[in-house]
Amino acid sequence: MAFRGFALATIGLVATAHAQVSTQCQGDVCYSLSIPQTSSSSNSRDIYFRIAAPKDYQWVALGQGSEMDGAQMFVMYQSANGQNVTVSPRNGEGHNTPEYNGNSQLTLLEGSGVLADKMVANVRCSNCSSWRGGNMDFSSSAASWIYANKFGYPIQSDDLNAGIQQHGNAYGTWSWDFATARGSNSVNPFLETSVITPSIINKSKSRNTVLVAHGGMASLAFLVVFPIGGILVRVANFSGLVWVHAGLQMLAWLIYLVAFGMGVWLATNTDDIKKAHPVIGIALFLVLLVQPALGWMHHKMFNEKRTRTAWSWTHIGIGRLAILVGMINGGLGLQLAGDTEKKHVVPYAIVAVVFGLAYIGAIVWGELKRRRNRPNEQYKLQGDELHSMN
Ligand code: HEM
Ligand code: HEM
Ligand SMILES: *[C@@H]1O[C@H](CO)[C@@H](O)[C@H](O)[C@H]1NC(C)=O
Ligand SMILES: *[C@@H]1O[C@H](CO)[C@@H](O)[C@H](O)[C@H]1NC(C)=O
Ligand SMILES: *[C@@H]1O[C@H](CO)[C@@H](O)[C@H](O)[C@H]1NC(C)=O
Repeated sequence: MAFRGFALATIGLVATAHAQVSTQCQGDVCYSLSIPQTSSSSNSRDIYFRIAAPKDYQWVALGQGSEMDGAQMFVMYQSANGQNVTVSPRNGEGHNTPEYNGNSQLTLLEGSGVLADKMVANVRCSNCSSWRGGNMDFSSSAASWIYANKFGYPIQSDDLNAGIQQHGNAYGTWSWDFATARGSNSVNPFLETSVITPSIINKSKSRNTVLVAHGGMASLAFLVVFPIGGILVRVANFSGLVWVHAGLQMLAWLIYLVAFGMGVWLATNTDDIKKAHPVIGIALFLVLLVQPALGWMHHKMFNEKRTRTAWSWTHIGIGRLAILVGMINGGLGLQLAGDTEKKHVVPYAIVAVVFGLAYIGAIVWGELKRRRNRPNEQYKLQGDELHSMN
């Protein structure tokens, strides 16, 4: 027994020495490859690859080929119970969502799983030399590989056909030097090598915190505080109302300023800045810059003319449009973030519907009341600005 234990330990040591693993990192995602001696000579046997990434990714993929079209891709996401990973082999056609194709015969090996902050897939591929649309010669000196990933709410699924969202700007291609990957005799070369992922994991964690803070604060501004400021000026009637309105809108504006800063940071980090959600958010930010001045001008002119002027209509029109577009934009943000589990979508929708309807109701009610009052002479003298300026 003692001898056998010793022999095994020796074999383990030998395997370690010969486990040739080549690791490539793209940002905080690392890909490893190991080509056994036998498969590099005969080009017909198993190869091994590893995908290791922070678990804050929705999915992370490695692919054989030089572009999506015609590539064989391996998409990793968390398994249904969140403890392990699913690796789905897919074939690329054009830039469409790649479709599952099991010909490559993948086996998930020991050492795979969601381990602390990381998700790791150690995979044996038994039929990776050719696939629908391409082939790869593992006895050659190098070949082209691609990678892509999507940051955001994790997919937790055992379904090899699970729907995935399009990647952000984190995708690319590189030529993998096979010389450094060749020569292992191990049946799981990654068991003997520690998981390498750069410490950017902490950045991913803090990115998720910023994402939730951004969504929460922007929503607070556009779903709650701006609408309350609008509702008050429409339905309330007390001394100094205009300043309560101005104060609330400035508060909402400041909350949005912080959310805006975080949004810009989120967008530039992923190159999402050209997407509809950030573009609309930036447009709203710029448009809202002029609102205080317009509100002030309305107020001044109203005190002189005792009626709505062009300033009033601009201030009111821009304000109403901005609030409603902002509410819709939050929905686009949730879509961009890929909230597939609807953890944030449902509360957002409920708050948006409640405050959206309350706001629209207040506008309708206020304008109807205003129209009713219009022929009233006394009203004209007092003005239709709903606050009184004592
Ligand atoms: C970011 C800042 C602001 C925003 C987003 C904003 C937004 C709005 C909106 C949406 C309305 C129309 C409410 C409705 O739907 O009927 C409104 C009305 C009004 N705002 Fe503002 N506002 C801002 C700042 C100000 C300031 C600084 C003042 C005054 C100094 C002001 C004075 C008024 C007044 C008097 C009305 C009532 C106009 C009327 O109904 O005839 N606003 N504002
Ligand atoms: C009306 C203004 C805005 C609202 C209501 C809003 C709201 C949201 C919400 C609710 C989310 C999803 C957060 C989550 O799932 O927890 C989100 C995501 C996002 N927002 Fe905004 N946002 C606004 C403006 C902006 C602006 C101005 C930018 C950038 C310039 C921006 C960039 C982003 C990005 C990049 C994401 C997705 C991040 C990712 O998953 O990679 N947003 N936003
Ligand atoms: C994940 O699944 C593989 C293959 O079934 C297994 O070897 C590994 O131990 C699992 N990992 C965890 C953390 O359960
Ligand atoms: C291996 O892959 C090729 C190309 O996709 C396919 O034609 C073949 O059937 C696969 N072999 C097995 C045993 O699945
Ligand atoms: C990342 O965060 C963990 C705690 O969450 C900490 O122990 C570790 O030192 C951090 N790493 C870096 C590189 O900041």
